[in-house]
Amino acid sequence: MLRISIVGAGAIGRIHAHNVARHNGARLAYICDVNPEAASALASEHGGRAVGSIGDAVGDDVDGVIIASSTASHGDVANACIAAGKPFLCEKPLASDLSTAAKIVESVRAANLVAGMAFNRRFDPQYAGIKTAVANGEIGKMECILITSRTASAPTLDFIKTSGGLFGEKGSHFYDLVRWITGEHPIELFAMGAALINPSFADVGEVDTAMTSMRLPSGTLCQFDFSWRAAYGQDERLEVCGSKGMLQTQQAPSGPFTRFAASGMTHSGLMPTWFERFEETYKVELDVFFEAIASEGRDGLPTLADGLAAQQLADMAKQSARDGAPVLIPASG
Ligand SMILES: NC(=O)c1ccc[n+]([C@@H]2O[C@H](COP(=O)([O-])OP(=O)(O)OC[C@H]3O[C@@H](n4cnc5c(N)ncnc54)[C@H](O)[C@@H]3O)[C@@H](O)[C@H]2O)c1
Repeated sequence: MLRISIVGAGAIGRIHAHNVARHNGARLAYICDVNPEAASALASEHGGRAVGSIGDAVGDDVDGVIIASSTASHGDVANACIAAGKPFLCEKPLASDLSTAAKIVESVRAANLVAGMAFNRRFDPQYAGIKTAVANGEIGKMECILITSRTASAPTLDFIKTSGGLFGEKGSHFYDLVRWITGEHPIELFAMGAALINPSFADVGEVDTAMTSMRLPSGTLCQFDFSWRAAYGQDERLEVCGSKGMLQTQQAPSGPFTRFAASGMTHSGLMPTWFERFEETYKVELDVFFEAIASEGRDGLPTLADGLAAQQLADMAKQSARDGAPVLIPASG
């Protein structure tokens, strides 16, 4: 039975605590949060001991750590895990700046530690199916990829201040998805962003609405449409078009359909938030992480290098949006 600590008892920490508590091969050891009430509330609901500092959550009685705290803390928490030799699964982005993220990748490599990124969308059957279909040549030569991700409600300004912003928080998921599906790292990108939903985001240099265009080495063009508003529910779509056809995800995790009527066309299956859309993926990613800890293998676990690559793209997109200029990406990524 693996003993797992969760660092961060906020929105995503609650999802992981719920899933660890119900996992056959694991139990909660510690719930760590700088906010003692948040840690205690989660521990009393799902088990584990509430603690206030990372040092208390990486002791000998712990087999692995899930880093689910605010983005600004990821670097410190990951470094504490590395120092204690504890395998960890890190929510994206890997760290609040690229140089910290790159050092973490290097330290994990040097220590040969099991560590992965919580890119949960890789465990969604629709995205995984599209990756396989592309690899099998079902759509012929890939020409363009279109991604829309609009979240039902915007985060607060307080969250934004300790976050990776729209490009880092949301963008890194989808930049990773394109790298994973295509096996290619972009060579050029251009981004634009605006604070249309909450103008005060602009005061801290952030945006809530953004477009990113990317060119892949094969010539495939990608377009990402991000928003922190969708008055109608979680809106997430991916299309891959090629010489022989097109693949398109549906809104619901399973069983979606489209109705055509005189009054118009309606999609059933819109999910209220990202949680309902991706609920199962958070369980599968824990299966993969726990298997990696047990076997000291890394198969299927998104790597920290993937996390660094997605974060680099997010930073470049932010820079492009700020400068109003395209960014040429060196071949090394
Ligand atoms: N994979 C996904 O689908 C997904 C979804 C939501 C959030 N996230 C990521 O998860 C992370 C947390 O997001 P959230 O929405 O849960 O935020 P949140 O604000 O709801 O919760 C963060 C928690 O971390 C705690 N915290 C901050 N610094 C800490 C530290 N040094 N040690 C211990 N606890 C600390 C805060 O007190 C808070 O309780 C972010 O990096 C975010 O990008 C991922």
